[in-house]
Parts: sequence; structure tokens; C-alpha cells
Amino acid sequence: MISRETIDRVFETARVEEVIGEFVTLKKSGSSYKGLSPFVDEKSPSFMVSPVKGIWKDFSTGKGGNAISFLMEHEHYSYPEAIRYLANKYNIIIEETEQSDEQKEAADERESMYLVSKYAQDYFHKTMLNTQKGKAIGLSYFKERGFTNEMIETFQLGYCLDEWTAFTDSALKDGYDLQYLERTGVTIVKEGGKQFDRFKGRVMFPIHSMSGRVLGFGGRILTNDKKAAKYLNSPESEIYHKSKILYGIYQAKKTISKEDNCYLVEGYTDVISMYQSGITNVVASSGTALTPDQIRLVKRLTPNMTVLFDGDAAGLRASVRGIDLILEQGMNVKVVTFPDGDDPDSFAKKKTTEELKEYLENNQQDFISFKVSLLLEEAKNDPIKKAGLIRDIVMSISKIPDSIKQEVYIQECSRMMEISETVLFNELAQMLDRQARDTERKPSPSSPRMTIASSNRAKPVQNTASGNDMPDDAAFHEMMMAQEGEMTATQGGKTKSGGIQVPKGINTLELYEREIIQILLLYGNHEVNFIDWVEDHDNRGKVIMVKEEYTNTVAHELYLQLQDDEIEFTNPLFQKIYKEISYQINQEEKLAVERLTSHEDQEIASEVTNILMDDERYVLSDWASKEIEVAQKTDVLQKLVQDAILNLRRVLIELKVKELMQEVADEEKRVEALQDVMNYTQLKTLLFDKLHRVL
Ligand code: CTP
Ligand code: MN
Repeated sequence: MISRETIDRVFETARVEEVIGEFVTLKKSGSSYKGLSPFVDEKSPSFMVSPVKGIWKDFSTGKGGNAISFLMEHEHYSYPEAIRYLANKYNIIIEETEQSDEQKEAADERESMYLVSKYAQDYFHKTMLNTQKGKAIGLSYFKERGFTNEMIETFQLGYCLDEWTAFTDSALKDGYDLQYLERTGVTIVKEGGKQFDRFKGRVMFPIHSMSGRVLGFGGRILTNDKKAAKYLNSPESEIYHKSKILYGIYQAKKTISKEDNCYLVEGYTDVISMYQSGITNVVASSGTALTPDQIRLVKRLTPNMTVLFDGDAAGLRASVRGIDLILEQGMNVKVVTFPDGDDPDSFAKKKTTEELKEYLENNQQDFISFKVSLLLEEAKNDPIKKAGLIRDIVMSISKIPDSIKQEVYIQECSRMMEISETVLFNELAQMLDRQARDTERKPSPSSPRMTIASSNRAKPVQNTASGNDMPDDAAFHEMMMAQEGEMTATQGGKTKSGGIQVPKGINTLELYEREIIQILLLYGNHEVNFIDWVEDHDNRGKVIMVKEEYTNTVAHELYLQLQDDEIEFTNPLFQKIYKEISYQINQEEKLAVERLTSHEDQEIASEVTNILMDDERYVLSDWASKEIEVAQKTDVLQKLVQDAILNLRRVLIELKVKELMQEVADEEKRVEALQDVMNYTQLKTLLFDKLHRVL
């Protein structure tokens, strides 16, 4: 584990513009920097870096965060990898903590194994390029297969001399420990201590991790010896787990995210030939069925996968089975088959880049439809086979986690197989039922709690009501539109329609929740004069509202008000961020926003950044351009805070009323429900009263 101190030092030292500047050309623009998005191809810059806030935002993909999250997004580093990268860049010594001696030893051992593997890669590569035998045998083999020098460099291909101990001797001479040579598998040690090179006489394909470390090798034999295996692979070890890595992922990762698709082939040479032909978003499963770990590796980069199948039909049927697993991971799967006798390697060699791209484009088929047509061929005139086929297809469909997609597929299959949708839906329902019973159902997480208690400042309603049902988005918007007239009157300096980027898929309630978070992040530590209206009685006993003034920081005020009303955020991410914020202000009075943008939980860091960057674009620039005085600014602030809270309350009440109106239909609950509706409506009127009175 990297110590907290080291992580803090990295965050203090790293300049976001310097870190990103190594990957993106940045131009100064006011207090920020601008550049072309590194995640999509674009002509006009939508990528922004704010050195002051230490964050970046890509407006074309919506991604954003701090220096660390940039490295995680762009270089696909893990969190510790990103920290190590920066520590190295800024010459910060990494302190490790909390490791037991065994852990330390294990980490050291893995590190030693990585070093040996890197040494081996370099040795095989140099041997091939610089020695007589290397050139005559290894290099000429790759040349014969048509691989360019560029591919040999990109994939660090190499050759292991056909001598028993050439590599092992060299490694030992250069100070590498036999123990690690053996544990990575590059050297085999026989009983009695005799050593020799595992990959003797083979051309070498190094296998890299996502971040480019050498994990192991595939070695191809050059002779036509029927008894020897064509490929020999590194044995499983602490650093090489065949089922967790895909060949080519390091070289392909960038284009996979950029193109938002990953091509999957079978072998090393397929990857390299495709890559050489310009299809660089390609990885290989190395001849075996995909594992869930491998699929997840791709899923970090894209939800889309296109599986390329060799031409032979026998292999096809076997491979088709494995694809259900990809569906199960929620990925979209397409399929391309090659003409009989061709694999991606041979096909790519025959075609120009243009032709290859065109072929892939024109021949891609949705996996389910592909499976239907493939199996239908077999079962054409055999009703029993056809029944089995239906079950098989529906089984595939049942693996798809998205029920809308399931429905689309059922319709498509019904058409292709000439079977009624009802039959297929029944089959699907049964299957899902069975699967649910098999995998003992976990209790579903309870819906977010939402409680409105009476505010102690306004007390028309005494009972605490709670409800769980959220209206759907459409109903919500309708409802909100009806309020629009009232709303604009109270929107103050900040308008909903004024260009704030509304994140997709969040409803009106969440919009207000987000606004509160935004106010907290931007102005949490500001001292503001607040006004409140409290109920009192005049000397004739009539209820009147009395104005009360007090000073508080924005964060404390919001915290108290939310607490008063027992309001909990419904959006889980906002809830998480709010928890962090309230923890901070309770612990140390002040809010430290940089602790949130550099938060270990990437979800928090990234959303906080997004929220801060929205402001970068609109709110502050507005204020700056209108040169609003500081004094005025606190006026605006107090209104911003009050409105945000009141609006949130109002929406919550409206939801509650809507829910109660449904109860009114119920004879038994009617009286009570109506009473509640009246109370809430009264509370709402009071809120509006407040909203208008505040200024
Ligand atoms: N494979 C393996 N061990 C073997 C055979 C195959 O690990 N004995 C894996 C390799 O990753 C290989 C892939 O399965 O790349 C596909 O096998 P194959 O199609 O036989 O190899 P190609 O990559 O096509 O190699 P070549 O074109 O050189 O024959
Ligand atoms: Mn081949």
C-alpha cells in the first residue's frame, strides 16, 4: 500500500496541466487551458483544464476529474499505477505502509518477476534484431509472414536461440536470480539442477498487461514437428494468469475506447495482421473461450465487442457457445465470419485496409440473429431439433441483463424462426424464473428513503410523512412544467434554462439535489447573512410572520436546513458526496473541496469535478462579466441557498401530494389522505410565500 502521505504529496505536487500536457496539446485560454478531446476525434476543442481547481473536463464525452483520473481514463492505469506514475514523474519517493512482512515479500517477489520478464522480452527482441542467427531464423520468419518492422517493434516480437541455455546464462550473468527465472517459467530447472531455456528455438510473442508490463510469453515453433506443440506459453504464475489477460490489450486499448468497439480474434498472428492492416482495436483470447475476467477487461474500455470467426463451420458452432458469457456481462455482441479457409490473419493479408474495413462493416451481424440463422440451417426440417434450438436461443436472450433488449430480440427471433412472440416470451419467463430460483435471490436494496418532517421554522403540518414512490420522469416533467411560471419568478441569478449542462438521466428532484451540492462546493465556506420568516402572533392573537436575520456559512446553513427537514438525497451518488461534505463540516468546520476532487472513490472525484466545471463555464463567468460587487454577491448567495432548499422541499411535497392523491381514490383511506393533502398544500403555499418574500 502506498502511504497516505505519499498520495497527498503526489496530489500537492502534480500540476494537472503538466500531467495532461504530455498527452494533449493544450492552449492557454483565460485562466484555463483548452485542447482537442483525446477521447474522440474532433475539430474544435471541447477539452478544458483548470489549473486553479486542479481539474479537467472533456465536454464531448462528459468525462472529467483530476490528474489521477485523467491517467486512469486515458492510460487506463489503476489508481495505484497512476500514483506511481506521478511519483516517478515528480521524483517523489514512494512510502509503503500497512504491509505485513509477508505482503512486502510477496510484492517484492512479484516485482522481481516483472523485472525478469522485462529482461527476457528485451533479450529476445535484441537477439532477433542483432545476432546472426536471430536475423537469419527469427526475423526472417516474421518477414516471411509479412510483418513489418513497425509491428515487430509495437509488439516487441523476438527470438529465443536454439541453444539450451543461451538466455538463462545471459540472465544469470546480468544478475537475475534463478529463482525468478524459474518462477516466471522462462527457465526450466530439472531435478538435479539442470537448467535450460523453455522457449529454445521459438519466435516470441510477449504478453502485456493493460498498462504494458510483461506478464508472460507465447513462443511459436518454427519446424513442422507434429509431436511438438505449435505454441508454448508461459506457465501460470503470480504475475501471469492466462484467464485474466487478453493478448494485444495494451496496444489496442486506446483505439478500443476511441472507436468504442473491440474486435476479438483467436490468435497472436491474427492480432498483429489486423493491427498492421489498420484495425488496431483488436485483442486475442489466445485460442480458448473467453472468461468473465477477460470480458471485464474489455468492458472497462467499451460495452461493444465484435467477434471474428474463422471460416470453418465446425469451429463456429463450438465458439458460439462461449458468447453467451459475453452477453451475460451486459455487452453488445456482433459477429463477423470470414470466407471458408480464411482466418483474420490470412484475410487481412489479402486485402487493403479499405477493403478490410469495408468487409467488417458490411458483414457484421448481431450475435443473436447470427446464432439463429446458423442453428436454423441445421434444424431446418427437424421439428425436434427446432424445439431445442428455440430453447437454446431463448437461453442466450435470457442472459442479457437489459429487459428492453430482451424484448427486441424476442421480436426479431419470432420473425426469423416463424414462431409467435407469445411462445418465446413464455419460454423466456420460465427460464428467468428458473434462473432466479437457482441463484438464490438477494433481497433488493430498499428504495431510497425520503422524509419530509415539519420544519421548526414553519409548522403547519405536524405529522411526518414518508413515501417511496417516485413518479416516472415524464410525469415529473409535466408536473414541473406546470410550475414553471411560479419557478422563474424565484430563480434568481441562476436560471435552469440558462445553459447549465443538465446531466442525462436525472430527474427534476435530482437536479435540485445537484444544485445544492454545487452551491456547497462553490460557496460552502462563504459567510452569508440569512433571513428567515418565523411564525408569531400579534397582540390580537393573529398569526403573523416575523423576519429574523442571522449569519452563517453557506455549508452550515444548508446542513442545518437539510437536517431540520430530514431530507435525504435520492440520488445515491449525490447522497455519497453529501455525506463526505457533512462529515467535513462537522469534523473541521471548513470544507476542503480539493479533498473531494482527489477522493479515492473515483465516482465522487469525477462527479465533484463535473459539478465544479459546470460552474467554470457558466455561473462564475456570468458574475465576472457583470462585475457584480462582493456585497451583492452575498445577497445573491443567500437567495441561491434559500431557493435551492425551498425548491427541493417544494418538489418533495409535490411528490407526496401526488402520491396521496392516489390514496384518495381508495374509499378507506380517503378521509385521512385528503386531510394530509390539505396539510401539504398549506405547507406548499407557505413555502411559496417564503420564496417570494425572501428578497
Ligand atoms: N494456441 C496455444 N497453444 C497451441 C495452439 C494455439 O496457446 N498449442 C493459441 C495461441 O494463442 C494461438 C491461438 O491459440 O495464437 C490460435 O491458434 P492457431 O490458429 O493455431 O494459431 P495462429 O495464431 O493462427 O498461428 P499461426 O498463424 O502461426 O499458425
Ligand atoms: Mn493462423
